[in-house]
Amino acid sequence: MNRFWNDTVRGLSPYVPGEQPRIANLVKLNTNENPYPPAPGVLAAIRGEANESLRRYPDPNAELLKAAIAAHFGLLASQVFVGNGSDEVLAHAFFGLLKQPAPLRFPDITYSFYPVYCRLYGIAFETVPLAADFTVQVADYAGRCGGVILPNPNAPTGRALPLSAIEALLRAQPDVVVLVDEAYVDFGTESAVRLIERYPNLLVTQTLSKSRSLAGLRVGYALGDAGLIEGLERVKNSFNSYPLDRLAIAGAVAAFEDRDYFERTRLQIIASRERLTQAMTPLGFTALPSGANFVFARHATRDAADLQRALRERRIIVRHFAQPRIEQYLRITIGTDDECDLLVAALAEILAG
Ligand SMILES: Cc1ncc(COP(=O)(O)O)c(C=O)c1O
Repeated sequence: MNRFWNDTVRGLSPYVPGEQPRIANLVKLNTNENPYPPAPGVLAAIRGEANESLRRYPDPNAELLKAAIAAHFGLLASQVFVGNGSDEVLAHAFFGLLKQPAPLRFPDITYSFYPVYCRLYGIAFETVPLAADFTVQVADYAGRCGGVILPNPNAPTGRALPLSAIEALLRAQPDVVVLVDEAYVDFGTESAVRLIERYPNLLVTQTLSKSRSLAGLRVGYALGDAGLIEGLERVKNSFNSYPLDRLAIAGAVAAFEDRDYFERTRLQIIASRERLTQAMTPLGFTALPSGANFVFARHATRDAADLQRALRERRIIVRHFAQPRIEQYLRITIGTDDECDLLVAALAEILAG
């Protein structure tokens, strides 16, 4: 506390990101980053932009990047919004689209940034419990509300909804914004992007942090009806005209140009996820079905927090949430197969002890 803080700042409970340790030689499976480097063209493009042009402001509208994203998805540039990571894109959507007189609805177990934005912007919200098997039941989202937001696949469970369920939700809530946060969609979940033409209330957010190996560059985007995008632009231009710098724009454009690399790495991660899940089963773990680049798994008898600590002693970090219903689960990011093998070996050793 500081006496100069206003009441809003005093009342905040900020999001706590996963640990980014400075220690070398850690197997880092805690924040759902990609274990593979960015596409080779990305680094070349960033280097190419690191020149005297940095004295100039970047394009405030990041037109080149919007064009690249629009072309990738078969949309118009006016249906694309870009920001400093999808977290910033989400923040603008909360402020400009999801803040309504009626409460916003989202799952009780979900991305923990959502309630943080609600408190920051004074948005009333109600959480909807996941079913016992941790699935989202879209029927529970019917009835009057100010908007709906959910990740698909959900975080930290990894469980995905089929497109038919997203469409049912859009049909049930035609008069409020339905935001589908697709941070992890490229790891085997159906995207709602193709519903955009039919549902002017659908906003889809995605990120370059996960499937495009660029968490360090901070680029995210939203796709939706041009009217929704214009609303986001109004918020952005009332906050920061230049959320993406020259290096980020150049790197992100190059990431969309290399489709082959994107396909290869995402398919490798999906294969590694299945391989890891199979290797953990004989050790006594049960993992929820995952459509993401992580698995959410619990052990039959051993305490999750204890397992997390024991892994940490062996220089392997995974994420644990001390939260009702999920306190016996570990969220494990899919690494390279070698990293996954180290994890399995460490778990086998811990469980034998
Ligand atoms: C569900 C979900 N949405 C959004 C984000 C934000 O991603 P970024 O700001 O890196 O684009 C994350 C990050 O972990 C996430 O888990």
